[in-house]
Amino acid sequence: MVVLVSDGVSDYATKLLQADGWIVELISLLANPNQIKPKRFWGVYTKLKIFNMTNYKKVVYFDADTIVVRSVEDLFKCGKFCANLKHSERLNSGVLAVEPSQTVFNDMMTEVNTLPSYTGGDQGFLNSYYAGFANAHVFEPDLPQKVLDSRSVPEMERLSTLYNADVGLYILANKV
Ligand SMILES: *[C@@H]1O[C@H](CO)[C@@H](O)[C@H](O)[C@H]1NC(C)=O
Repeated sequence: MVVLVSDGVSDYATKLLQADGWIVELISLLANPNQIKPKRFWGVYTKLKIFNMTNYKKVVYFDADTIVVRSVEDLFKCGKFCANLKHSERLNSGVLAVEPSQTVFNDMMTEVNTLPSYTGGDQGFLNSYYAGFANAHVFEPDLPQKVLDSRSVPEMERLSTLYNADVGLYILANKV
């Protein structure tokens, strides 16, 4: 478990995270370039720094408001970029599996000020960056390793809803 700690987090909080077993990596904030954005989104572009975690082969990212209810091991089998569609044809950036890449990160940084973000945050940026995500194939964690090794890894894959569901989906499915 790795936590990226950006500017403004107190030493006290950082030490608590360490005491809880987190590996702390200090990073700098990535400014949100959007003029119009929800106030709480001031720091969210920093999430893009996941793509710069090149000391790791794969990073599985969860927003702080998610709850892991069963093993997430399968997500580490994801190719380059996995997310799911939520309530729409747009990807949700609350749960991501990423293969960190200097090339991809640098490319993102060249586009960060120009690509539109419909949310005013990282999720909107990622939807522009991974244009066509809605047509991505579904991630299949159970493909035999032989098949995984021999295929050309897709740029993006769509996770099933099981990997990132919420109360809204539960209510829709159960019509309560
Ligand atoms: C990306 O990672 C490298 C190496 O870990 C680091 O030196 C660099 O500052 C990072 N880039 C940004 C923009 O955070």
